[in-house]
Amino acid sequence: MQSKAKKSLTPCTCSIIGTGSYTPERVLTNDDLSKFVDTSDEWITTRTGIKERRIAASDEATSDLATNAALKALEAAGLTPKDIDLIIVATVTPDMFFPSTACIVQKKLGASHAVCFDISAACSGFLYALTVARQFLNSGARQTALVIGAEKLSSLINWNDRNTCVLFGDGAGAVVMQSSDAAKAPGRVLSSVMGSDGSLVDLLKVPGGGSACPVTPENAASRPNTIHMEGRETFKHAVTRMCAAAEEALSIAGLTAADVAMVIPHQANARIISAIAERLGVPEEKTFINLHKYGNTSAATIPVALDEAHRSGAIKPDDVLLMVAFGGGFTWASTVMVW
Ligand code: ACO
Repeated sequence: MQSKAKKSLTPCTCSIIGTGSYTPERVLTNDDLSKFVDTSDEWITTRTGIKERRIAASDEATSDLATNAALKALEAAGLTPKDIDLIIVATVTPDMFFPSTACIVQKKLGASHAVCFDISAACSGFLYALTVARQFLNSGARQTALVIGAEKLSSLINWNDRNTCVLFGDGAGAVVMQSSDAAKAPGRVLSSVMGSDGSLVDLLKVPGGGSACPVTPENAASRPNTIHMEGRETFKHAVTRMCAAAEEALSIAGLTAADVAMVIPHQANARIISAIAERLGVPEEKTFINLHKYGNTSAATIPVALDEAHRSGAIKPDDVLLMVAFGGGFTWASTVMVW
């Protein structure tokens, strides 16, 4: 169904007016993992900061996680699904190849006025989606967007590979965004930057299950449809790219790291977050961390963290927030906003 597009194309402020998140009930601790793979709570905690992660039920798909997060964001915004005219879902674990997870979420919500599509940018996906939604809202082409980062990464994990299986978890976060004529609207986005380097695709990928390498009875044993990652290389690129993206986003906003009240970083590894904070000159108490509870939920980490930071009172009105992400592709992105 077509949305009621705004006539004017005058740029205006774009704001987050509601947040929500959802994580599945089942908790898988480091000690649980060490019962079936050669690892330990000590190794995982020291190398990553992760203590436990959530695992979706077998009958819970990414769209279910996304829908639960979206309902909470809509409630926080005081809107109904019918008020939404754009749904973007960032995910690398769609329910199926097509239709998009966004269309499935539309059906589950009954958001019949929305235009819906997915974005694939791995762990940077939510900030990519937020930036795309901002273009739609700022141009006046759409008025109210639901931007969701949602992943069921447990569906892509090789539980025999200790290099990767300890890192990831399932979850979803959502924000409702609207354009506004008020120059100082709460939740306003000041700047967004994005980048990609496809020459490094091989460092972090799910090589099989797509058109390049369908899963066949012959190759199934090598588990090509699971996450393959060069951890050390990914770590180095993540720190460099996230710092550069954060500095660029701050510079475009006319701010410096000293203005930042809270960094909401992609939650992959506590050591990556510490390295970024140190390089940017932001004290560690100004970095929001919840990865000990959820691990790396890829596109969901930032919207889940933003929602938890808001609901716990860790961020307050007028705080400058710096969000920054890095993921497979490689992709990276950063957004500066005022809460
Ligand atoms: N338990 C115990 N030992 C382990 C485990 C484990 N779970 N995993 C690896 N090891 C061993 C390795 O086999 C290796 O042993 P060896 O020295 O005998 O060969 C040793 O620990 C060190 O392995 P490294 O891979 O070098 O460990 P590192 O300190 O680099 O930590 C980690 C690995 C945590 C993966 C880190 O490199 C990292 O966080 N990388 C970045 C991940 C990331 O940011 N991803 C971002 C995006 S994800 C996305 O887009 C979907």
